Amino acid sequence: MEITPHNTQEEKLLMLGGMFENIIHQFKQPLNAINAEATGLKFQKEVGMMDDETFITSLDNIINRTIYLSDTIDDFRDFLKEDKIKVIFKIAQNIRQIESIIEPLLKAKGIIIYKNFSNNDLECYGFGREFSQVIINILNNAKDAILTSGVDEKVIKIDVSEENNNIKIEIYDNAGGIPEDIMPRIFNPHFTTKEETGGTGIGLTMSKNIIEEHFKGSLLAKNTQFELNQNSYYGACFTIIIPKNI
Ligand SMILES: Nc1ncnc2c1ncn2[C@@H]1O[C@H](COP(=O)(O)OP(=O)(O)O)[C@@H](O)[C@H]1O
Ligand SMILES: [Mg+2]
Repeated sequence: MEITPHNTQEEKLLMLGGMFENIIHQFKQPLNAINAEATGLKFQKEVGMMDDETFITSLDNIINRTIYLSDTIDDFRDFLKEDKIKVIFKIAQNIRQIESIIEPLLKAKGIIIYKNFSNNDLECYGFGREFSQVIINILNNAKDAILTSGVDEKVIKIDVSEENNNIKIEIYDNAGGIPEDIMPRIFNPHFTTKEETGGTGIGLTMSKNIIEEHFKGSLLAKNTQFELNQNSYYGACFTIIIPKNI
């Protein structure tokens, strides 16, 4: 039996919603810069101070920023395309590609992601973008939790390792953890503690479905202490276990 990609239209829209903040962040600064550059050019022309060199440099700045914006749109669009076929993909490479999408916003919020990949060549088989979406969901949740917690130092740690014939991906944050009373419900459809900020409660449900149904794996959550650069932190840890492509 051939399995089709999991995303319904509704889920894709929700996914786009989840990335909206990232998209806005990556667009705002270059747009402001283009605006400033064009305003400057106009002013210089008006007061008769325009020399050829300034003119060319300014236009180059504008051109380069539009190229960047256009590339950024392509990156985001790629992530929202539907997976057509299952492929063998490298876990490390997949996670690194996600970073170009979400790291700029995390950085701007002062959150640092530490990666620890035991083997860059670990491969698995399935819909690569669905896998990316799971990681994006978990990272976005970590970001939300860290920002609400108000911790000073903001860290996320991603460990990828092998265990028997499985790949284990652990994503830790230092936001203080998931309250024990809601822990049993976080994977339920529409369960959210972010009503006020537009949470949908669908991210973890969707992620668990993808991992279990399409990767024949498991997605678990726990609270734990973890070590990073000789420091000790406490927060949620999401563990994905999926069979290795062997
Ligand atoms: N890293 C985390 N730390 C603390 N709580 C979390 C974390 N990840 C998820 N949660 C809790 O699980 C709930 C469900 O998450 P999710 O399904 O992604 O929906 P949403 O993010 O829209 O609320 C969140 O509202 C939050 O209460
Ligand atoms: Mg979420």
